[in-house]
Amino acid sequence: GDASLVTHALARDELSRLREKDTEQVEFRKGLVRLGHLCGYEIIDGRMETEYVEIETPLTTTMGERVTGLDDVVIVNVLRAATPFVEGLLKAFPRARQGVISASRDESTGMNEDGQFPISVDYVKLPDIEPDDTVIVADPMLATGSTMSAVLEHITDQGADPDGLIVLSAVAAPPGIVRVADSFPEVDLLTVAIDDELNEEGFIVPGLGDAGDRAFR
Ligand code: PRP
Repeated sequence: GDASLVTHALARDELSRLREKDTEQVEFRKGLVRLGHLCGYEIIDGRMETEYVEIETPLTTTMGERVTGLDDVVIVNVLRAATPFVEGLLKAFPRARQGVISASRDESTGMNEDGQFPISVDYVKLPDIEPDDTVIVADPMLATGSTMSAVLEHITDQGADPDGLIVLSAVAAPPGIVRVADSFPEVDLLTVAIDDELNEEGFIVPGLGDAGDRAFR
């Protein structure tokens, strides 16, 4: 797998608004939706192909173009911060099948000595994943990578071997990128920004705070 950045300038513009501490709940949520939409376009541009198809306009027959693979997309929503992000992705992939996983960090004991958090996975509902599928696992924050590792284990444990497995985030910290890349070499990482570091509480710095709280509170 590889790690790449979402390059569209509007994505960086949206992310910068999300980072601002004064961006309140409604704007934060809408910003995550717009960012998800842009990331979806970027995924289509970067890894999907088009084919020419004959179409009929009201006047004549002509050649049109269609993105192939739009019917073979699975989007996995990692509750809860990913929900508005996924809403945006669905604008780019309206026919995607969806999976939902509730996975969250137990922050009561802090990070352990490996720089990980214990993760509780409370709910998992995934569609069947077929070999032709592109699977996009969306979570705006990739911090220690503990959550994403737990999520990816659930996806790969069921024997899924999709055509592409993409982890999509808005901000990612180096430790999380390294953890996911080491444990899941088949994964392609895509993020809008790679931030500097994690603080002692496992928050991404500069980051955008707690995305779940900011979108839902
Ligand atoms: C946040 C975030 C990611 C996770 C990233 O979720 O949305 O899921 O932490 O951290 P990690 O890479 O160190 O695992 P949180 O556990 O706060 O749950 P929430 O989305 O329900 O607020």
